[in-house]
Formats: sequence, C-alpha cells, structure tokens
Amino acid sequence: MHILVTAGPTREALDPVRFLSNRSSGKMGFAIAAAAVGRGHTVTLVSGPVALTPPDGVSYVPVESAQDMFVAVKAQVPDCDVLIMAAAVADWRPTQVSEQKLKKSSMDGMLSLERTPDILASVQALKGSRVYVGFAAETQSVEAEARRKLNDKGLDLIVANDVSRDDAGFGVDTNVATLIARNGEAESLPLMSKADLAEAILDRIEALRRS
Ligand code: PMT
Repeated sequence: MHILVTAGPTREALDPVRFLSNRSSGKMGFAIAAAAVGRGHTVTLVSGPVALTPPDGVSYVPVESAQDMFVAVKAQVPDCDVLIMAAAVADWRPTQVSEQKLKKSSMDGMLSLERTPDILASVQALKGSRVYVGFAAETQSVEAEARRKLNDKGLDLIVANDVSRDDAGFGVDTNVATLIARNGEAESLPLMSKADLAEAILDRIEALRRS
C-alpha cells in the first residue's frame, strides 16, 4: 500500500520571527511512518517543523503552515491508498502576516485570527475507496469528541488521545489511545510506546483494507 502520513505541528506566522503553534513533537506520526516502512509499505511523510530525522525509506515532505500541509496532502492523496493525519494542524492563523518584524509599539495586545483549511474535510471528495484515519487530541469527553470528529470528517478510523495525561499525547514517547471505527466499535488500548501504538493502528488499517 501507499500510505500518506502527516506529523508534527504547523506554524502560523505573525511576522518573520513570530508564529502560533503547538507542542506536537512529530513522534507519533514518525513512529507510524517508520512502522509502515518496516511492513514494506510505500510511505510519504508530510511533516511540520520537528527536531526528528525522517525514517529511512520514506519520501519526506517538510512543510511549515497549515496551508502548506493542505497543499502537500491534496497533491499526494490521489497517489495513496491510506491517509493518516497524526499532525496537530493549527486551527487558527493570524489574519495578516507582516513582512517586517512588528514593533512592540505598533501592537495593541489584540490578535486578529482566521480559520486554517480543515485538511481532512477538504480531501473528502478524493476519498473513494481510500482509508482515512484521523487523530483526536482531547482533554475532556475524549471518546465523545472523537466520535463527533469521526463522523464530521467522514473517517474510517479515529485514534482518540487523552492528552490530559503526562504520559500520553504531545511530546512524550508513550501514548494512551482508543481506536474507534466507523461502525462505532471501540478498542481501548493500554499505555504503550508510540512505536507499539503505530503497529496497532497499522494492524487495524490492514484489516480494513482486507474487508
Ligand atoms: O507529535 P507528538 O508530540 O508525538 O504528539 C502526538 C499528537 C498528540 C499530536 C497526535 O497523537 C494527535 O493526537 N494528533 C492530532 C492532534 C489534533 O490536532 O487533533 P484535532 O482534534 O485538533 O484534529 C482532528 C483531526 O483533524 C486530526 O487528524 C488533525 O490532523 C485533523 N485536522 C485538524 C485541523 C485541521 N485544520 N485540519 C485537519 O485535517
């Protein structure tokens, strides 16, 4: 299979030196890419800025902003069988990007923001028989929020992360997830390494492709 994976945060520029972003390290998406290559799949990894070395054997597409990631994913989806969106895409970006560094004296403490493109929603029309997998990073009502996103974004599978825990979600090497399928079935997995969670996610995807 050709598997397209996204990873990391996006950065939404305010001026040449400032940006809005989040705490994603890219570890989860890179673990999925490494596990998929290990299983013999063709892998394209689209990642926001991270301090990680891409796994050997992946086709690596570095991006910066949500708009860049949107363009890269849209270009790659037609060639892939599976899309796994592990990236923490910024939902908001500054309405205006200043070409020059903003002076403290010119700022009034208010930021005007606009929504970034919803990448998963934007590639719905290209889905066909492709398997789409999303992640949901939540601090409360984890499963309910994940089920809402599974339906709203037309996904086959969603990986619900409880990111209120110190040992799960952003930045750490471990994760705790519930895998929720389109038919509503949920499998709650114990605390495990992101490498092991990647294998569990790929097991589910390979089973979906066989069914
Ligand atoms: O990178 P790590 O430090 O290893 O951390 C891993 C992680 C916590 C970032 C990862 O496991 C995770 O949960 N990623 C998704 C985080 C997130 O932004 O979730 P969300 O609930 O905001 O978005 C839901 C889904 O829509 C995600 O698949 C997201 O990639 C996608 N999305 C979000 C916004 C947007 N504009 N377009 C999208 O496609």
